[in-house]
Amino acid sequence: MPFGLRVPAVLLALAGLLLTAPTAIDAIDAKCSACAAVAGQLQTALEAEKPRNHVDLRGRLDSKGVRYGKLIPYDVSEQRFTELMEGVCEGLGRYTLRTVKPSEGPSAGTDVMRWENIGRVSKNPRAKTLRDELNDYCHRIVEKQEEDLQKALYAKELNSTNVAEKMCIQFSGECEDREDLTSAQSPAMEEEKKPKKDKEAKSGGKKRKKGAKKPAKGDDKKEL
Ligand SMILES: *[C@@H]1O[C@H](CO)[C@@H](O)[C@H](O)[C@H]1NC(C)=O
Repeated sequence: MPFGLRVPAVLLALAGLLLTAPTAIDAIDAKCSACAAVAGQLQTALEAEKPRNHVDLRGRLDSKGVRYGKLIPYDVSEQRFTELMEGVCEGLGRYTLRTVKPSEGPSAGTDVMRWENIGRVSKNPRAKTLRDELNDYCHRIVEKQEEDLQKALYAKELNSTNVAEKMCIQFSGECEDREDLTSAQSPAMEEEKKPKKDKEAKSGGKKRKKGAKKPAKGDDKKEL
C-alpha cells in the first residue's frame, strides 16, 4: 500500500526534524570561521560609526505641562544598538565556504574549511545554499548574544578591535582561542580593499584628467 509506505517516510522525516531541531548555534561547518564572518560585519559597522547626538525621549508632558522622559547619550541608546545590528546578517552575501590550506598556524599544510569573502555574490546554486546557511547561523548567533552584546556595548567594553574575540571566544566558544580565531578569519578584508584601491586609483586618474581638461576649456573660451 502506498499509504503504508508513506507513513514510515513521514515518521522518518519527523524523527529527522526532532534530531536536528534543537540545533545549537554551532550547527554549521567551520563554526569558528562562520562566527568570525559575522563578527567581521559588526566590526565594519562599529568602524563606520560616527559620533551622534543624544537621543531625546523627553517628548511627553505630565498633567502640569512639564516635560518628562530622558535624554540618553547615543552611546548607550537602544537606537545605537539597533542601528549597529541592522545590516550585520545582510552583509554576508559575499561569503562562501571554501577549502583552504593555511601556510602557517596550527593547521598549516592541511585542508581546512573556511568561510571566505570572495568579493562578489556567486550565482552558483551551491553557493546560494551556503549563503542561506550562513545567514541563518548569523541570525541565530546574533539573537543568542543580543543581551551580552548590548551590555558590553553600553559598558564600552565592546569595540571594533575586540568584537570577534567577544562574539566568538568569550560569548560563544565558537573558536577555541585567539589563534583559532585568527586562522579562521577570512582574508577578505584585503580582498575587499584591493578593488576599492583600484577604483580609487582609476577615479583619481579620471579626476586628474578632468582637472586637466577644465582649464583647457577655459583657455579655449578665453581665446574665443
Ligand atoms: C576596546 O575595548 C577594550 C576592552 O574593553 C579596551 O581595552 C580597548 O582599549 C578598546 N579599544 C579601543 C580602540 O577603544
